Amino acid sequence: MAGSNNIILIGFMGVGKGSVAREVIKNSNYIAIDTDDLIESMENRRVKDIFDDEGEKYFRALEKEISSWLEKSVKNTLISTGGGFYKVKNLKKIGKIVFLDSPFEKIIKRIKSHPNSSKKLKKRPLLSDLKKAQELYDERRPEYLTLADVVIDVTDKSALECAKELLKKVK
Ligand code: S3P
Repeated sequence: MAGSNNIILIGFMGVGKGSVAREVIKNSNYIAIDTDDLIESMENRRVKDIFDDEGEKYFRALEKEISSWLEKSVKNTLISTGGGFYKVKNLKKIGKIVFLDSPFEKIIKRIKSHPNSSKKLKKRPLLSDLKKAQELYDERRPEYLTLADVVIDVTDKSALECAKELLKKVK
């Protein structure tokens, strides 16, 4: 919502929402929060453990809870989100929506080229089967595009370049 001055970063797992958020806060007055971090502190356990112990439905209910809190209580903040958070009903009311876009193969290549790649893959239960992950990507991408106020193609760009583009486009 215009009054809240929040920016919400949406996009597929591994596209670089966290890295872009870190560069935005270094280069602006925004403070940042991350919906997965909020959920992990609420639950005092990792997202992967929440999926393993309680299942995806339970995790989605936590995302919904967080979304109400964000709408009511958070202002002037860059909010990075888990890849499925965009499904909450009040997303548009939380802030300006920025979609980080990249082809599926590039996202997987990006994760695999990371020094901590096996950790990055392990902590994301929905990436354990790449065929299913590709299907999820194909299903979600048009939905991300429909919701977005701003789209940033992050392919082959550094996090800093993306952050600068974001700050220019959300002005
Ligand atoms: C999910 C993405 C993850 C995390 C959870 C579910 C999804 O966050 O919220 O594993 O549904 O795409 P990242 O996008 O930060 O990996």
